[in-house]
Amino acid sequence: MAAPLRSRRSCLAVPGSNPRFLEKAQGLPADEVFLDLEDSVAPLAKEEARENVVAALRGGDWTGKVRVVRVNDLTTKWTYRDVIEVVEGAGDVLDCVMLPKVQSAEQVVWLDLLLTQIERTMGYETGRIGIEAQIENARGLVEVDRIAAASPRLETLVFGPADFMASINMRTLVVGEQPPGYTEGDAYHYILMRILMAARAHGLQAIDGPYLQIRDVDGYRRVAGRAAALGFDGKWVLHPGQVDAANEVFSPSQEDYDHAELILDAYEHATEVERRGAVMLGDEMIDEASRKMALVVAAKGRAAGL
Ligand code: GLV
Ligand code: MG
Repeated sequence: MAAPLRSRRSCLAVPGSNPRFLEKAQGLPADEVFLDLEDSVAPLAKEEARENVVAALRGGDWTGKVRVVRVNDLTTKWTYRDVIEVVEGAGDVLDCVMLPKVQSAEQVVWLDLLLTQIERTMGYETGRIGIEAQIENARGLVEVDRIAAASPRLETLVFGPADFMASINMRTLVVGEQPPGYTEGDAYHYILMRILMAARAHGLQAIDGPYLQIRDVDGYRRVAGRAAALGFDGKWVLHPGQVDAANEVFSPSQEDYDHAELILDAYEHATEVERRGAVMLGDEMIDEASRKMALVVAAKGRAAGL
């Protein structure tokens, strides 16, 4: 099952209750924008936010961006109306629905079925709207393999560090940074790897969540670099100042991209002309596994326009 290869280096969060931000987001070079109905919207503003989001999707210019709406999670009373109002109102100009705090495969199946019903009612192409699932509590992580396999609509698994840290009682208030007193390595390594494995096993993209110190762009780069090094495809951005950093950190460097293209050329020549499975490229021996690694870097570099 191959998820559409949409670029998601930078995923910009925009509160659905703020028309000024909904307008401004259109001019920013983020790969994805998600219009939020969940935690950045106050309970009393939820209903108005649905209308703002539909109007922004319909009237705005989102050219080149993946268009996503985050609905409220299934422990609230808002979820079904969020989906119905947004998808009936703007499903033809929407790429994905993001479901937060996913705790089981059944929750994803519920969303899949509801989307199918709305698509049929509205005469939209069936199955076109994708799903992004946020993994942001212990239950979600324990169930992550089943969640990742729950629907062909799934495109990404998204780590939600803020809710996750709260859910496991991690002793810190700074989202994304190491908990004070923990000196044994990276407190997030297991969680990130677990999500990444489930995503890759099911052909999904893996996205890292927010970094809340929005003025600390160096801190953002450091934390984003950690996820990028593991293989994550992108990270949330909460502020225009983080967009360029995300696009840069999740693209290969020009040097790595050039090297990857060189490996692909050399290996193609080796196998097709010389009929050899392993050859030297400079001081390095390359073989079929090197070609696969190079393909990953080359694909990301080409998507980034290198
Ligand atoms: C995002 O939703 C988070 O909880 O970090
Ligand atoms: Mg959250």
